[in-house]
Amino acid sequence: MEQQGFTLWFTGMSGAGKTTLATVVEEILRDRGLKVELLDGDVVRTNLSKGLGFSKEDRDTNIKRIGFVCKILTRNGVVAIGSAISPYREVRDFIRQDIGRFVEVYCKCPMEVLIERDVKGLYKKALAGEIENFTGVSDPYEEPLNAEVVVNTDTETHQESVGKILARLEELNYISQASGDQDQVYSEEEEQILEDRLKALGYL
Ligand code: ADX
Repeated sequence: MEQQGFTLWFTGMSGAGKTTLATVVEEILRDRGLKVELLDGDVVRTNLSKGLGFSKEDRDTNIKRIGFVCKILTRNGVVAIGSAISPYREVRDFIRQDIGRFVEVYCKCPMEVLIERDVKGLYKKALAGEIENFTGVSDPYEEPLNAEVVVNTDTETHQESVGKILARLEELNYISQASGDQDQVYSEEEEQILEDRLKALGYL
């Protein structure tokens, strides 16, 4: 059967784990033979959204651009993965309606943990007042009300979070089950892919 596209949208604050989870899921789905494209906010902001800042207007423009690309990929049978803070509910819901086959993954993590992790050192700067309009510090983040998947990245392992996402995609019939084993969301080979990817990212 020909591959049907869908958009998998990761939202959540900076450092909540969007990029990590998105790249792992990207690799697993590609390994299953699916056509996959990842659009990551940090990367898109160096080309398609170059020059945009972090006002509400610029963020909404950024999300609409990423959403537009996800839409045209989706209608061409590609699994489009979008990963951006996308702090405003209205624009997230707009692209959801626009795309149709849309799965929202909320990467949830308490502020204290984000501040403690501070991988990019941005929270420290934002708290010191050196970065304006920083999401969660001096700018809003509107939590999704009906995300298809919520991953609690402070308490779950990466494996658990990835497992939740894949299980939900199977449940929604966007992907078929990989292994024959009902209790197994991903195969042993995929577990290895996951481990290698996490190692490459410095987690293991
Ligand atoms: S979004 O709001 O438009 O969805 P996007 O995901 O593309 O944001 O970019 C967020 C990234 O930009 C963060 O991970 C961080 O590295 C960087 N950044 C720089 N300034 C800010 C800011 N004021 N608020 C949030 N992130 C910022």
